[in-house]
Amino acid sequence: MNASCLTHLEALPGGETFPPDAPRNGSDGAVLFARYDLRRVRREVTREAIERGPATLWRYAPLLPVADPAHAVTLGEGYTPLLRTERLGAQVGCRDLWVKDEGRNPSGTFKDRGAAVAVSRYRELGVKTVALNSSGNAGGSWALYCARAGIGCVDILPTDAQASSLSHCASAGARTYFVEDWHASGRIVADACRQYGWFNVCTLKEPYRLEGKKTMGLEIAEQLGWRLPDVVVYPMGGGLGAIAIWKAFYELAELGWTGGKLPRLIVTQYAGCAPAVKAFDEGKLDVEPWTRLDVPPGGLKSPNPPGGRLVLEIIRRHGGAALAVTTEEALDAVAEMARAEGVFACPESATTLAGLRKALARGLVESDERVVLVSTGSGLKSIPVLPQPAVRTIGAAAEIGA
Ligand SMILES: Cc1ncc(COP(=O)(O)O)c(C=O)c1O
Repeated sequence: MNASCLTHLEALPGGETFPPDAPRNGSDGAVLFARYDLRRVRREVTREAIERGPATLWRYAPLLPVADPAHAVTLGEGYTPLLRTERLGAQVGCRDLWVKDEGRNPSGTFKDRGAAVAVSRYRELGVKTVALNSSGNAGGSWALYCARAGIGCVDILPTDAQASSLSHCASAGARTYFVEDWHASGRIVADACRQYGWFNVCTLKEPYRLEGKKTMGLEIAEQLGWRLPDVVVYPMGGGLGAIAIWKAFYELAELGWTGGKLPRLIVTQYAGCAPAVKAFDEGKLDVEPWTRLDVPPGGLKSPNPPGGRLVLEIIRRHGGAALAVTTEEALDAVAEMARAEGVFACPESATTLAGLRKALARGLVESDERVVLVSTGSGLKSIPVLPQPAVRTIGAAAEIGA
């Protein structure tokens, strides 16, 4: 496997650059992006070599920040199936519909990508303890990867965090705390990191979670034969995943590995926490904090998404939309995905299907366009949120009926 072609970090806006050899948080609202020697990648790596790589996200090692792939902290994350979903497509009126099934990652969500890559890199850089706020899925995932790496993890979670994520945190031995006022959680992590010398890995506070999530975009391209789809629909919380997928598309375009137009981005949010949708509808360049949070337990609980401005910029640049979905619509879509295709997605993921239906109805997507729904997590993480099935107990076959 090839070594990383990472060269430096770039802070945007501003453009200041930093060597990548120490753990670093962005400051003054700037976001740090990892930059690579893409000319070297082009010289030394081919798409065919990548295709022969391991069936994990580590197949993209030259485009990841971990200096030596032997340092990878892995549980077998990434290279998840991209499923052609013809029956579901026919139901919603989309002839070329695909689902990227991120529920197949080790802890059941795409958060494993960010955790695997960032934990690997920070262990390489000597970090002893990381801290983050998370609506649950990232917290559970980081707890497990930190355990695998032998480094400490401090998780700040909302009081309604799902049992599945809490179990990940507790089983893996992460120091786990609830915060009642979720709006204060980011500040609490930042203060704790200053006081106790931990490293802050909250969304977009450091550059490497994004690099892990970037592999979703690399995989979508590779799995479609290095051709990008017309539209990607992504369930947006902090916005990191969408930004990461587009970073992958930009790097692939610069490498000359994909051609043509970049896809349009449609982000979906719950109607009870839709700051990006509101900003998009009002033509604003940045999001404003959402005050009255009303979402089911789980992800998409980001009232002031750190990636809001960047997501809106991607939508402006390449086309797309931000659409709100009710909890009921999301839960219906969970059942629809399972019934039509056997894909058991969490409600956050199913917002993409409900959103696509709206986008088709409004003419934002044509029926013959190639659309990828990013199903960020498994329904197994959200069982208590899903409608409880009514099952009849029987004692004999005759009670079943034909
Ligand atoms: C299952 C799931 N999907 C999507 C998201 C949104 O993530 P992002 O921060 O990449 O927008 C989250 C977290 O909020 C999540 O837990």
